[in-house]
Amino acid sequence: MKHDLILTAKGHPGTQQRMAQEFNLIRLWEQPDRAAALKAAAPTVRALAHTGHSRVDAALMDALPNLEIIANFGVGVDQIDLDAAKARGIIVTNTANALNDCVADCAIALVLNTLRQFPQADRYVRAGRWKRDGTYPFTTALGGKTLGILGLGRIGQEIAARAEAFRMTVRYHNRNRKDVPYAYDPDPVALAKNSDVLLAITPGGPETDKLVNAAVLDALGPQGYFINVARGSVVDQATLLEYLQQNKIAGAGLDVYEDEPNIPPAFFGLDNVVLLPHMASASHETRTAMGALQIENILLHLDGRPVKTPVA
Ligand code: NAP
Ligand code: 8YV
Repeated sequence: MKHDLILTAKGHPGTQQRMAQEFNLIRLWEQPDRAAALKAAAPTVRALAHTGHSRVDAALMDALPNLEIIANFGVGVDQIDLDAAKARGIIVTNTANALNDCVADCAIALVLNTLRQFPQADRYVRAGRWKRDGTYPFTTALGGKTLGILGLGRIGQEIAARAEAFRMTVRYHNRNRKDVPYAYDPDPVALAKNSDVLLAITPGGPETDKLVNAAVLDALGPQGYFINVARGSVVDQATLLEYLQQNKIAGAGLDVYEDEPNIPPAFFGLDNVVLLPHMASASHETRTAMGALQIENILLHLDGRPVKTPVA
């Protein structure tokens, strides 16, 4: 007999297909009456699969009193009320490690594109400006520059390894110092001061809210670059926009925003920022691996076995 599984939102198609094979799948976003659908599912549903960035809050958990596991499609779980889950004895899992390579690749691509301005140069060629105005202005090299990683965790360490291949020097700040061959800074301001490029790859949520603020951007200075592959909440976005408009920092590369997919249109007119649509893990291979891990965690739990990637 197949177990029930609630899926909160339309996500990776291959994963959804597999879920439909493995479970009696309840597609929550397709239900005309969400409350009625939850009520009907409540007596039997033990597992919920979450995808996307909508909130999984206490009210949703209360609507499903037999819920035992929330399996997230993604490593960041800032959209899930972890305290509420803990209080109800609900296990939360994520897709830790499955996406390290792709996210680190994307982070390095943003560093490259922001410093070397390849997207801007592409626009320059397409607009016929090479022929009309001459060669594109000189850009900034990566080699010899210092990359300050804010959040040297699983993904941060993969970014560090790639940065070394580009002959960059790596430093970092975490709340806890690590046994790694990189210099440690005790706070984000010190890290920004000591870096040419500051790159955020921490979790989101209240503890990192606006960790990158005016003081950090001031420390980075007019020659410094900011890269964000963490969460939009990690930077004070209004201040970042102002600093880019006034050239108080040299440039930024962003994959994540405060209110996705809404980006303040003022960013679009700026030539010192590279904008990606939260796509760091979005390759066929990685999304398939994330989905496989999400499903594996659910099946393991429903089979009475320990899950692979529980969130602490
Ligand atoms: P991880 O292994 O848990 O690493 C997170 C790192 O951040 C840890 O080293 C942690 O060290 C540090 N950190 C946490 N809170 C901090 C704080 N307040 N100040 C300074 N450092 C702090 O997680 P991961 O797997 O590398 O993923 C990191 C995050 O990347 C995710 O949570 C998600 O938000 C983001 N992400 C984004 C994308 C994307 O598509 N753009 C994709 C995947 C992940 P300490 O605990 O010692 O502070
Ligand atoms: C995904 C992510 O965009 O893993 C994360 O934390 O931000 C990304 O991999 C997202 O989780 C897909 O829902």
